Formats: sequence, C-alpha cells, structure tokens
Amino acid sequence: MIICDRVKVIAVVGAGKIGSAIIKAIKECYSDVNLIATGRRDVTLENAKLLGAEATRNNKEAISRADLIILSVKPHHFPIIVKEVGKDVWDGKIVISVMAGIKLKTLSSVLPGAKIFRAMTNINTSVRKASTAISTLDGDESDKEVVEELFKCLGTIYWVPEEYIDIWTALVGSGPAFISEIVDALVLGAVASGMPRDIAYKAILDVLEGTAVLLKNRDVHPAEVRDEVTTPGGTTIRGLAVMESRGIKSALIETLEAAYKRSREIGNDIELNIRKELNIN
Ligand SMILES: NC(=O)c1ccc[n+]([C@@H]2O[C@H](COP(=O)([O-])OP(=O)(O)OC[C@H]3O[C@@H](n4cnc5c(N)ncnc54)[C@H](OP(=O)(O)O)[C@@H]3O)[C@@H](O)[C@H]2O)c1
Repeated sequence: MIICDRVKVIAVVGAGKIGSAIIKAIKECYSDVNLIATGRRDVTLENAKLLGAEATRNNKEAISRADLIILSVKPHHFPIIVKEVGKDVWDGKIVISVMAGIKLKTLSSVLPGAKIFRAMTNINTSVRKASTAISTLDGDESDKEVVEELFKCLGTIYWVPEEYIDIWTALVGSGPAFISEIVDALVLGAVASGMPRDIAYKAILDVLEGTAVLLKNRDVHPAEVRDEVTTPGGTTIRGLAVMESRGIKSALIETLEAAYKRSREIGNDIELNIRKELNIN
C-alpha cells in the first residue's frame, strides 16, 4: 500500500464531524498509520483518542510531525491556524483541505512548499460510501496516488477541475438531504395508503439501493429504466402523470440550481474574508 510506504503520520487539524469521520475511516483502512488529531475542547480531544488517534491542542507540533495533513477546521478558523503555526512547517508535505470555499490558489499562497489538494466529500464518509471530488493545481502523479488511495478509503473519488467544486457541494454535499426528503415523502405516501411506516421505510431504502445498482450496472439513461417499468395503462404511469403535473422534475432542477448558487455565494464570501484576514491580494 502506497499510504503505508510513503505516509507514516497523518495530522487531522480540526477533528470535528468530518475530521472524526476521516480518522475513523483511515484507522479502519490503514491501521499502521499514526494519526494525530487536533482540536480545542476536551470533548474533541477525548473523542479523537477514542477513535485511536493521538490528540493535542498543538497544531504546530502535529503538522511538523506529519507527512500528510488534512485541514478540517471551519474556514473562518483557518487564518488562526496559519498565523499560529507559521510558514516553516509546510514544506514538502501533502496538504488536503476539506474546508468549504477556500481556493487552491489561496491555500498555495499561505502554505509555502506544501503539495496542495482540495477535497469535497459528504456525510456518507461515516459509512465509507462517500463521493469525494478532489482537485489540485499542479499535484504530481505520485502525490495524487497517495491522495487517491487515502480518499478511496472513504468511498468513491473523482478528480475534477476546481471550478466544479461548488456544484459538487450542491449535488453531492447537499445530495443526502435532498434524497432523504424524497425518501420521506414516498414513505408518507405509503403510510397514507395504509402501510406501516417501518415496512415502507425499509422497502423504499431497498428500492433506492437496488435502483442505484441497476442504473450503474446497466449504464443506461434513467429514462430507459423508467420506460421498462411503465406498463401501458398501468400503475407507474398514473404516478408519473402526477409527478409531471406537479412539476417534480423542474422543482428538482431548480433545487440544484438554488443550492449551487448559494454554494458559490458562500464560497466567494469565505474566499474574500480569508484573503482579507491573511492579507492576500
Ligand atoms: N461535515 C461534513 O460532511 C463536511 C463535508 C465536507 C466538507 N466539510 C467542511 O469541513 C470543515 C469542517 O466541518 P465540520 O462539519 O466537521 O465542522 P466541526 O464539526 O465544527 O469541526 C471543526 C473542528 O475544528 C476544530 N477547531 C477549530 N479551531 C481549531 C483550532 N484553532 N485548532 C484546532 N482545532 C480547531 C474544532 O474543535 P473544537 O470543537 O474542539 O473547538 C472542531 O472540532 C468545514 O469547512 C466544512 O465546510 C464538512
């Protein structure tokens, strides 16, 4: 495994929700890698220890000792870390930011000598079924291999140009919320028609999982599967007609567009604030 050969120590700076999920997954995949987690509160440090990481408030020491660093603080805490640890600790290290909004160019200008990657994942990291987008400006192939192997441990990875990260945040970051809402609505429909909630809930999750596998395996447009299920004069077409008349499809398209717009707004605000805080022109 490349990770164990090239990376002996990983620092997770900011072991909160996403940081802890990453620690847990790395521990399960690469038990030989040493993990150092940082945080401020006792509860954060205790939780990191329970997950098998060394825990400290000392970001500088954690970063200095690590071969690879994951930055998982909230974006507005990032300038504090940069000022606290100084410029000498980053040289030659692989740094992966999972922080929302902060662009690769900005990271490069404040982490001198670091090999920088930006990753955007989702809540499904907790079950190692995440879809993670990763971008880099000039990462070399061997560093990309390390980053890829590490994030494969959380689920599936996709190398994407940085310009897609905001859309990714809307589609994949918010995706679990949108899908959960649709699941909830379908369950309520079954309950309204007389089925007990627990049975309906399990059934629709099976349908979701099965349909995802079917679509992936057959590699066809979703409309083909829809048409196969849609018998003339049957059950499905009656339901589809309601979906059509209520504009479900256009509502979902607009949902994504609205989430993307907001993701871009938030990203731009974060980027502006960070550049101001760190005096970057
Ligand atoms: N949650 C997700 O699914 C997800 C997915 C993709 C990206 N992200 C991004 O990942 C970042 C973190 O999100 P989150 O939801 O995991 O937030 P979170 O739970 O608040 O975690 C942030 C952690 O950073 C720690 N921290 C803050 N200041 C620090 C400092 N000076 N030194 C060391 N640690 C410090 C906090 O420690 P204390 O609690 O001890 O103060 C906290 O545990 C955000 O930028 C978010 O956009 C999150």
